[in-house]
Amino acid sequence: MSGHSSYVPSNGIMRWLDARLPLPRMVYDSFVAYPVPRNLNYAYTFGGILAIFLTIQILTGIVLAMHYAAASSLAFESVEKIMRDVNWGWLLRYMHANGASFFFVAVYLHIARGLYYGSYKAPREVLWILGVVIFLLMMATAFMGYVLPWGQMSFWGATVITGFFTAFPLIGEPIQTLLLGGFSVDNPTLNRFFSLHYLLPFMIAGVVILHVWALHVTGQTNPTGVEVKSSKDTVPFTPHATVKDGLAMIVFLAVFAYFVFYLPNYLGHPDNYIEANPLATPSHIVPEWYFLPFYAMLRAITFNIGPIDSKLGGVLVMFGSIIILFFLPWLDTSRVRSTAFRPLYKVFFWIFVADCIFLGWLGAKPAEGIYPTLALLGTIYYFAHFLIVLPVLGLVETPKKLPNSITEAVLGKQKSESGAGSPAGAAASPETKG
Ligand code: HEM
Repeated sequence: MSGHSSYVPSNGIMRWLDARLPLPRMVYDSFVAYPVPRNLNYAYTFGGILAIFLTIQILTGIVLAMHYAAASSLAFESVEKIMRDVNWGWLLRYMHANGASFFFVAVYLHIARGLYYGSYKAPREVLWILGVVIFLLMMATAFMGYVLPWGQMSFWGATVITGFFTAFPLIGEPIQTLLLGGFSVDNPTLNRFFSLHYLLPFMIAGVVILHVWALHVTGQTNPTGVEVKSSKDTVPFTPHATVKDGLAMIVFLAVFAYFVFYLPNYLGHPDNYIEANPLATPSHIVPEWYFLPFYAMLRAITFNIGPIDSKLGGVLVMFGSIIILFFLPWLDTSRVRSTAFRPLYKVFFWIFVADCIFLGWLGAKPAEGIYPTLALLGTIYYFAHFLIVLPVLGLVETPKKLPNSITEAVLGKQKSESGAGSPAGAAASPETKG
């Protein structure tokens, strides 16, 4: 929310700086005095957690790059050297590899929060679209990063994924050659991917700044979905949100530390500890867990659709599953923002979550027997959620009564929690009725 600044420099130096570069004023207005809805819950803490993980990835990545050799004859060995000979190298690498996974855990929870509370609806469309851009950049970064250790999955994963570009008529093959720096995954590919893997996180950081800027223009939503109406509906960011975000970060980092120290290879694939061998194809080529739902959709199309052959069909479906997110603000026709007040949509929301998990499970299965058929059903449902459920439900669903304000919802809840809630008090917040 742009507005009047209440920052007062506390000493002469700060006054001097404030007149020249008001950076402390910006930080104060954005992270101290900044008003946030008073009823934010823990689902709203993942944005901060993501910022921490982006920082962890960049810092550990920069130090890893000091010891890593981006040449196909040295890459695998240099990673082993990092693990065994570089001081704290094992920790850096395990933090970076597991950090990527936890980054995706956080981003999926962050997106799920957005879907549940209708964060993408007007006036936050640009904020949402910037988020989808970040998500795409994250995927590209993770894909290229996984190629760098030059293990069997690195090599064959890159071969399979870059191979899909050839599905596009005319432009496909030149794009693939440009990406690979030749006709197959080799040393030039590794150099390109290393260069881009180093560059993209900084691009993500740039888009995150725009994302948070857009957030500060529109302000945050909240679990009721009712907009802030008066200063009574908000509390200052510090200490309220800072403490809540801090606690969530500690818990999330504790789980992360458990993986780094006790299960460092649990989320990886053992084949990546075998050096890349262009002459030996692994029996199953699987991507990292966070790509599995998309991988399932890619492989779900096993038949030609008119002039579109199955390969191109799979690629279009896979890219389409992310592109469709850009249009979400206009596909959802409901005027009610929060799912807490949409009893019917709540059911469909959880079916959608189950469908994504189901697709993820299928992505790890071989593309044979019943699995491609199940993946096709899961894919059809995924698209139906956006193209049928969201547009139609908004028109036919009768939402619950919304509270008049955030304060009313919070106070109604407090009354009923203390046991003193009269039926009238409970009626103030439809949420408390459920
Ligand atoms: C590096 C990745 C990201 C960072 C650092 C980040 C950061 C943040 C922060 C700090 C907030 C405010 C706190 C919160 O609501 O949790 C926020 C809100 C938001 N983010 Fe992100 N974000 C990232 C990725 C994404 C992605 C991938 C999407 C969607 C595809 C997204 C969509 C949103 C939306 C819609 C809001 C507004 C939430 C609301 O007020 O209801 N973000 N983000």
